[in-house]
Amino acid sequence: MSGDQAIRALLEWYTLAGVDQAIGHAPRDRYREAADALAAAAEPPPTPVPAPTPEPAVTREAAPASPPPPTAPLLPPGDATWSAQEIAAACTSLDQLVAAVRAFDGCALKRTATNTVIGDGNPQAALMIVGEAPGAEEDRQGLPFVGPAGRLLDRMLAAIGLDRSAVYITNMLPWRPPGNRSPTAEELAICQPFLERQIELIAPRILVLVGGIAAKALLNRREGITRLRGQWFPFATPRMEGTIQATATFHPAYLLRTPSAKREVWRDLLDIEDKMKSGETAP
Ligand code: URA
Repeated sequence: MSGDQAIRALLEWYTLAGVDQAIGHAPRDRYREAADALAAAAEPPPTPVPAPTPEPAVTREAAPASPPPPTAPLLPPGDATWSAQEIAAACTSLDQLVAAVRAFDGCALKRTATNTVIGDGNPQAALMIVGEAPGAEEDRQGLPFVGPAGRLLDRMLAAIGLDRSAVYITNMLPWRPPGNRSPTAEELAICQPFLERQIELIAPRILVLVGGIAAKALLNRREGITRLRGQWFPFATPRMEGTIQATATFHPAYLLRTPSAKREVWRDLLDIEDKMKSGETAP
């Protein structure tokens, strides 16, 4: 194998393993760092050296404060969820919420993500769509559903006469899980207060949950998407007075892999179109 081929094979292997973003200028051997830290901790403390005779006082500029650590320590998951709830509840506008999510350090996904991806579309829209989490392209551009699944979502919306100016689109998580792995229950729990506040502030009439992760988490159900799709559920957060009509359908990324499921999604879309046209609101 030539040098070029070997490098290409290594890069392909990295991509398959989920290492598809450069987040530093130089590689870091974290195994070595951890081993060095353990070895340092195991070493006996140095013998104290007698203090030198103080030099005569000289006027000097104050030493610059030592730089802050590169990242704040993470809160334990339960505390992070609690802190997300408090922070989200204090936001009274979408702009404040966006700033609060960007500043939030309680979810480790933020450290490997390139961008915080919050929402796209029309914040006054009657229809809000919630997906799972940003993928590689969304992470690069900082916008939800702009990769291959997003292009299919745009076509699905166009099929019922809608586009991004008529809907608001967001995700359960504002940060991409490395290598597009599924979000953990902990990550979903930490970020859900921000999403719920986003729903409260947008106050759509209709909520469409795409994919099993969003459907199960927001409807608080255990069934999979095959059972949940095509039905209507009342959605509410503890702070809302009324309810929003929520439905679920297959995720466009699933449709890209399973085109035969488009038939069911077409039915779901027609149902959503009817609800949009009826102007009916939830009780
Ligand atoms: N899949 C999602 O669930 N959300 C995105 O933004 C992109 C892909």
